[in-house]
Amino acid sequence: MRDLRIGTAVALFVFSSLSSVIAQPPQCDPAKVIGPMRCASCHENEVRVWLQTPHAKTLEELHRRPEANAIAAKMGIRSIKRGDVCLDCHYTSQSVSDKNQIIAGVSCESCHGAALDWVTWHNDYGGPTVLKSQESAAHKEQRREISIAHGMRNPTNVYLVARSCLQCHSVPNEKLINVGGHGAGSLEFEMVSWSQGINRHNFLRTENKSNAENSAEELRIMFVAGLMADLEFSTRAVAKATERGVYGFAVAQRAANVAVRLQAIQEQINDPNLQQALVAFSRAVLKTNNETELNAIADEIQQAGTTFAKATDGSKLAALDAMIPNKSQYK
Ligand code: HEC
Ligand code: HEC
Ligand code: HEC
Ligand code: HEC
Repeated sequence: MRDLRIGTAVALFVFSSLSSVIAQPPQCDPAKVIGPMRCASCHENEVRVWLQTPHAKTLEELHRRPEANAIAAKMGIRSIKRGDVCLDCHYTSQSVSDKNQIIAGVSCESCHGAALDWVTWHNDYGGPTVLKSQESAAHKEQRREISIAHGMRNPTNVYLVARSCLQCHSVPNEKLINVGGHGAGSLEFEMVSWSQGINRHNFLRTENKSNAENSAEELRIMFVAGLMADLEFSTRAVAKATERGVYGFAVAQRAANVAVRLQAIQEQINDPNLQQALVAFSRAVLKTNNETELNAIADEIQQAGTTFAKATDGSKLAALDAMIPNKSQYK
């Protein structure tokens, strides 16, 4: 990565304390999962959309696929749903009387965070008698911050949700790929095209409860945030590489490719947070058994990505419009 043309004017940032609560890669603690049917009591439309996606359908379909059983056999797993390997990315599990049970495929909490600690905060307008229309802007912002502090990957900051996608879609499991022959990540993953088709469920934004499309400004932020999250998780995936093999090569190549794309974006937008992420990555030595150093770099990219999504004004990113996938490319 030495050939990355990265400017020398590096701004240093002091990060807010909020970042510390999201320092770990996202996980979905089964002890804190409440399940999509609990969300359904208030988010009926979102659940209806989700049920039509591969995320929901993997629950019934994965173990029936011959390719899935071939992977499991190579891994020495007798039952796809009983072993814990496939659980990480294909299912949601919940602990019921100390035993973890599969309750869904990839579900609401896989992307928004296990909800036990945040669910009561995220829709609290300021007490049981306060209506949405009476909530002040300050309270709304505070409510969202509190929900994030309690583990919610609130889409108000799209980087938080993009991290969920990439945690799975970078497929950071060396044995699964080198031994099991599983695909080495969704290499063509791109946040806008992969989230705005079948996955889109923006029912809260409009009065008439239609499934709203994002504005051009929002899409620009999402586009860059998705690539920054890809850089973060590709770097974390390289950190897990211990041997020269398909896995290590694929994840290192992925990280390098994403960095090149982000560099081209940076030339258009000259953004201080993106600059910070690229400078951090320029120090990355993409080799096996380099876990501590690479994860520290990924942590810096995470900080930069979180701040980027929060602080950036999308109206200043119009130069990117030609790079952003259009509707015909949405999955
Ligand atoms: C008791 C009703 C209720 C339940 C249960 C509930 N929600 Fe919500 N949720 C709401 C309301 C109301 C809002 C809108 C808040 C607002 O006006 O900003 C909301 C907002 C959200 C948002 C957008 C956050 C934001 O700040 O814009 C997400 C994401 C979300 N809910 C996810 C979930 C998930 C996932 C579950 C299940 C784990 C869930 N909710 C359970 C009522 C609920
Ligand atoms: C680290 C995350 C991760 C783990 C663990 C994982 N998968 Fe996957 N798997 C994915 C992702 C992400 C996709 C979607 C790939 C895409 O769309 O590009 C996928 C896709 C698949 C597919 C292809 C589905 C299709 O639509 O053709 C099969 C088969 C599969 N996985 C089997 C398994 C089996 C069996 C296990 C357990 C032994 C497993 N996976 C464990 C992340 C994972
Ligand atoms: C918990 C892991 C996990 C998370 C989180 C996750 N995915 Fe996936 N995703 C998968 C798996 C596994 C599949 C493949 C399911 C199958 O085919 O059985 C998949 C499939 C998809 C597909 C269909 C791919 C195709 O080729 O048709 C899209 C699109 C997608 N994911 C987008 C996203 C986006 C966008 C996010 C974040 C907002 C996300 N995913 C978050 C695991 C995950
Ligand atoms: C694959 C990951 C993924 C899954 C699964 C998922 N969400 Fe989301 N959710 C997102 C993303 C990404 C956004 C922001 C999308 C955007 O801005 O277009 C979002 C936005 C939302 C919003 C805010 C919508 C608005 O109008 O602003 C709500 C509410 C929500 N999700 C609830 C849910 C519920 C309930 C479920 C389960 C039925 C669910 N989500 C499942 C990724 C996911």
